[in-house]
Amino acid sequence: MRNEILTPFATEEEAFEDGAFSPAAPSEAALEAGSLRPRDLEEFVGQAELKERLHIILEAARRRGQAADHLLFGGPPGLGKTTLAGIVANEMGVQLHITSGPTLERAGDLAAILTKLGEGDVLFIDEIHRLSRAVEEVLYPAVEDFQLDIVLGKGPAARSLRLDLPRFTLVGATTRTGLITGPLRDRFGLVARLEFYEVSDLEMIVSRAASILAAELSSEGALQIARRSRGTPRIANRLLRRVRDFAEVTGDGFITDIVASRGLEVFGVDELGLDKVDRAVLSALCELFGGGPVGLSTLAIAVAEPTETVEDVYEPFLIQQGLLMRTPRGRVATPAAWRHMGLIPPPAAQALNSSLFDSP
Ligand SMILES: Nc1ncnc2c1ncn2[C@@H]1O[C@H](COP(=O)(O)OP(=O)(O)O)[C@@H](O)[C@H]1O
Ligand SMILES: [Mg+2]
Repeated sequence: MRNEILTPFATEEEAFEDGAFSPAAPSEAALEAGSLRPRDLEEFVGQAELKERLHIILEAARRRGQAADHLLFGGPPGLGKTTLAGIVANEMGVQLHITSGPTLERAGDLAAILTKLGEGDVLFIDEIHRLSRAVEEVLYPAVEDFQLDIVLGKGPAARSLRLDLPRFTLVGATTRTGLITGPLRDRFGLVARLEFYEVSDLEMIVSRAASILAAELSSEGALQIARRSRGTPRIANRLLRRVRDFAEVTGDGFITDIVASRGLEVFGVDELGLDKVDRAVLSALCELFGGGPVGLSTLAIAVAEPTETVEDVYEPFLIQQGLLMRTPRGRVATPAAWRHMGLIPPPAAQALNSSLFDSP
């Protein structure tokens, strides 16, 4: 079974708020998740640099009465890319249209969406690195000249027709900035990467969520949850919901430091916030492969996860925490990883550490 609590992927309830999933009767949890999403830049916690740039771009566009430039947001899941697309539309007072790379199978699928756009609207394409070539070809003239080329008929009798589109803002999101083709990337006025959040930012996010959910949370309780959220707001909000359940079932509902720690323990979250798969990656690396270097695909097979998932979802946080390193010869466990797994780092790992980081 997957460890659903910690994966930064959206659960069903969260997918609903993303608009990707719409059950006839949304659960209470789904409605709750929707209400946690910040609606304007002011409410969006952290990512100060990105927020400042975005504020300038949007404010300038507003003053000129024009659609904002196209924006690309990259970074691991759960950091706020979809949220930002909604904020852009909201700040500009326009309609948000949501689609994703894998859903747009044929050129006609994109054409159908483009012809529905209103003046200044935001078109959000999630997982934009997964667009097919044919769809990308339609997107270029659309984002550059606001023109749509349609081919009518087939063979020698085919004619092409050029339609004017309203000026719109394309917002792309991707977990893989590296997979975006050069020509597509060049068409964005801002290419931004979302970073993992600081603990202090996550504390604010959790406290804000608690007040929206009317959960009683002490500041120490918020710190506990923030520390173990893998730098990811989506996980922070999810851990808060589970800890709230724990507090209600085992106590009076008040989330103190101790209640939060016990609750997180029950749900299998370790002190660093690593989940089962994170730990499986480290344990495979240390115990099966002697600390590495080992190729990414071999490592992925050892933990029974798709290679892309290990690369996009698990690795970035392990690297950020200084537990894993990418080297030209493969992935390597740092001494900190050995220690975190309760193992003694072999001399080779120690030597690697001091030569790379110059630490004593
Ligand atoms: N900067 C932020 N401040 C407050 N909450 C946030 C922030 N970023 C994300 N969230 C919360 O985390 C959830 C996941 O964010 P989302 O935009 O869906 O991530 P992504 O699209 O990058 O996977 C949102 O529903 C929202 O509640
Ligand atoms: Mg998203």
